[in-house]
Amino acid sequence: MRTRRKFLQGAAILATGSMFPRAQAPESRVEVLIDEPIGTIAPEIYSHFVENLGGVVYDGIWVGEGSKIPNVGGLRKELLDAFKKVKPAVIRWPGGCFADQYDWHDGTGPRNRRPRRTNFWVDAREWPAGTNKKGPQFFDPNLFGTVEFTRFCRSAGAQPYFAANLRSQPPQEFWRWVEYCNSPQGSTTNADARQLDGETNPLNVRFWGVGNESWGCGGDFTPQEYATEFRRYTAWVPNYGVNLALVGSGPNGGDLDWTRKFFAAANEHGALGRMWGWALHHYSWNISGGRTTDWAAGKGDALKFTPDQHYELLAQSQQMDGLIQHHWDAMGEVDRRHHTKLVVDEWGAWHASGTEPFPEALIGQQNTMRDAVLASMTLDIFHRHAEKVGMANIAQLVNCLQSLFLAHEEKFCVTPTYHVFDMYAAHQGAQSLRVATNAPSISYDRNGQRATVAGLSASASLSGKRLALSLTNPSVDREREVEIVVRGATAKSMQATILTASDVHACNTFAAPRAVEPVKRAAQPVRGSVWPARLAPVSVTQIELELE
Ligand code: AHR
Repeated sequence: MRTRRKFLQGAAILATGSMFPRAQAPESRVEVLIDEPIGTIAPEIYSHFVENLGGVVYDGIWVGEGSKIPNVGGLRKELLDAFKKVKPAVIRWPGGCFADQYDWHDGTGPRNRRPRRTNFWVDAREWPAGTNKKGPQFFDPNLFGTVEFTRFCRSAGAQPYFAANLRSQPPQEFWRWVEYCNSPQGSTTNADARQLDGETNPLNVRFWGVGNESWGCGGDFTPQEYATEFRRYTAWVPNYGVNLALVGSGPNGGDLDWTRKFFAAANEHGALGRMWGWALHHYSWNISGGRTTDWAAGKGDALKFTPDQHYELLAQSQQMDGLIQHHWDAMGEVDRRHHTKLVVDEWGAWHASGTEPFPEALIGQQNTMRDAVLASMTLDIFHRHAEKVGMANIAQLVNCLQSLFLAHEEKFCVTPTYHVFDMYAAHQGAQSLRVATNAPSISYDRNGQRATVAGLSASASLSGKRLALSLTNPSVDREREVEIVVRGATAKSMQATILTASDVHACNTFAAPRAVEPVKRAAQPVRGSVWPARLAPVSVTQIELELE
């Protein structure tokens, strides 16, 4: 109760009266340019990632049909109900690194006869010392296979996106997986197998990843070698009338060399024309100052962090802007018409181990208002690059990295990041608009040197007469006064939803599942096109305006 009261006191104030008198003009300004559309915000930017890793699948999603935990065909009901609300577009599975070791056959046939296999992550160095390596997180019983995953997607209202195994299976197995999923009823032995698994009609799976992180856990390929593999795997894939969207394994963060060399090599034999998306992965590590590209080194705590560490993490997440632009430019050197879109199929905050919701939740972490702000600021970047980004999948859905949910046995809660996805759902499929933002940046200490991060993040979209405007104040201690200007239209009503907390470290737990949640203000009539607003520290504000 105390947390809740504090939270309400800290809520952002959105004033919708007259403009500030000139002498008190707010320090910041956000100008929405109705006549400068950027592109349609692909609903697929609101996509997710589920890997057979730690507590994501077993316990997180799959509880089994006989479980006392309420479930729909073995799938955790509470999670499904909350997940549907945020309108997930696509869900990627089974990895991640797990994918390049996975035999899709293992997850088919009667569940009680499926093989148990050693999970890719069994020897991960993040397991606490002395972990008793028993259970499905270590030896996968394959109860959650193709059909179970597809039903999960269907129940959530999302499309499935499979990552094919390129490191340890030949191309034929990829095509056979496509056949199992998409060939017409009765047409092939694999269609019959699917029918026996309870799915008579083709699953019509459109999205297929051709390997994962092929520069690393997916095979340690060079870009030229991977281009050769990509050509082999994608040549003459049967499509069964489905407009297949094949996704190439793109770069690790800023590795432009990988993009350039792959595009040049794949283009030689025309394979680029077969590639719908190019996958970029970028995680933000919570490091204490300097920068590192070693994924296991230098991470900081999910819950205990200083303001400098908060800003440094956000600064790392903001690199997404340059990554998208630079890879897009590099792709355009060969793919001049930009036939291939960017797919950011792994992104989010990656903190140090230690705040897992339960011991088997490998690389599980708590999720605070800092993570919520990171999510909103990253989604703003995707909106600003709407014409380039075809899909984005936050990593990962539950009990792992920047999750929307924490779930263990009967316990369940949504995270602050979940609320951002809920608030931002209004942008899906809308027209992204250019927003001119003018705000002082925040200065902080990075290992004894001054560094800066944006003091305000914004994005806007238009759908018919409905304008959605998102505003994030990342400051841990300063309110931000903003003048909102809509250039090219006037509004007649305004409604705001605000997510904030009095402390950036605030989070939801199984014991206090609603410590952080948004406040939705009633819609109110407004006039004109200029309004002042006051944004609370560490807040995300979603404004919906009805235009005249
Ligand atoms: O999301 C966790 C891991 O991070 C994925 O398995 C891999 O693709 C990436 O390195």
